[in-house]
Amino acid sequence: MSSYDLTRQLPADHFSHALRHDVQHGLTASPKTLPPKWFYDAAGSELFEEITRLPEYYPTRAEREILTSRSRAIAAITRARTLVELGSGSSEKTRLLLDALQELGTLETYIPVDVSESALDAAGKSLTKEYPGLSVHAVLSDFTHGRGLPTGAGPKVLAFLGGTLGNLLPAERAEFLTGLRKLMAPGDALLLGTDLVKDPKVLVAAYDDAAGVTAAFNKNVLNVLNRELNADFDPGTFEHVALWDARQEWIEMRLRSTRTQTVKIQALDLAVHFEEGEELRTEVSAKFRHARVADELEAAGLELAEWWTDEQGRFGLSLAVPR
Ligand code: SAH
Ligand code: TRP
Repeated sequence: MSSYDLTRQLPADHFSHALRHDVQHGLTASPKTLPPKWFYDAAGSELFEEITRLPEYYPTRAEREILTSRSRAIAAITRARTLVELGSGSSEKTRLLLDALQELGTLETYIPVDVSESALDAAGKSLTKEYPGLSVHAVLSDFTHGRGLPTGAGPKVLAFLGGTLGNLLPAERAEFLTGLRKLMAPGDALLLGTDLVKDPKVLVAAYDDAAGVTAAFNKNVLNVLNRELNADFDPGTFEHVALWDARQEWIEMRLRSTRTQTVKIQALDLAVHFEEGEELRTEVSAKFRHARVADELEAAGLELAEWWTDEQGRFGLSLAVPR
């Protein structure tokens, strides 16, 4: 029999304390910034799913192509009993791994971890129906908080797909990977999806689609602030900006104020002034090369054991093991 449960590991004051802290900090800094995890309320998670189906947004299709051809190899190498997935979202591509591990017969438990309760719960419930015999333990948690990460019976695979590693800044990535390494025992593996450096035109289009879905996704963070912190952002007065930073090798997402304005954030008793044209950074999405992935893994005590890309070399999937 399959089973399903959802554990809330977010501190009770996640939306009050952590969001307040991030907003207070980020919107009084210069330049202004916000961390990307606040994009993902129920509406944000749905908009992200829409992004994954856009013609310009190739990473999901490229990673799915790799998983389609390599999932059996991943299952054979890892023989995982437990699959833990960080930032699992809809768990859509994960089905390829679950299929391969179930076919091999080693898999017992799937532990999706996400900060979006709506995405987590919908995915968990449908997977429980689709995979007889699988225990699904969903965990509502912030994967950047060391204490928020679950473990499980080994051998286990920790999956971190979708290029989400690139949404962390370099220092945050180092800390995050070191934290993952601490959860791993000999015989465990990390399966890591990273988008790769390529023609900036292709990259920018993926984050600035013609239909405006990414723009709506980016502006959704303002709706989250309005709702959770009683702010009065008018999303109509901000423009979506996506640009390629060639030095850092990352895409940067920003919201540009189209006018001089002061926004009130009641819950913080804060007034935030924007000049016309002033930009708020909402996200980076770093793009990688093989050597950088290998180096960052090594610095965290992990060794790159397998490296696969899609046919066109757009996206990389790594299998790393403790050194
Ligand atoms: N893995 C999926 C979704 C990628 S989008 C895919 O490849 O398509 C990034 C996901 O990470 C979203 O589901 C978002 O809710 C989640 N997320 C972002 N920041 C997070 C954090 N700090 N802790 C936990 N989940 C986070
Ligand atoms: N992990 C995804 C990425 O970096 C998240 C993402 C896709 C995203 N499109 C976005 C985040 C647009 C903000 C805006 O590709």
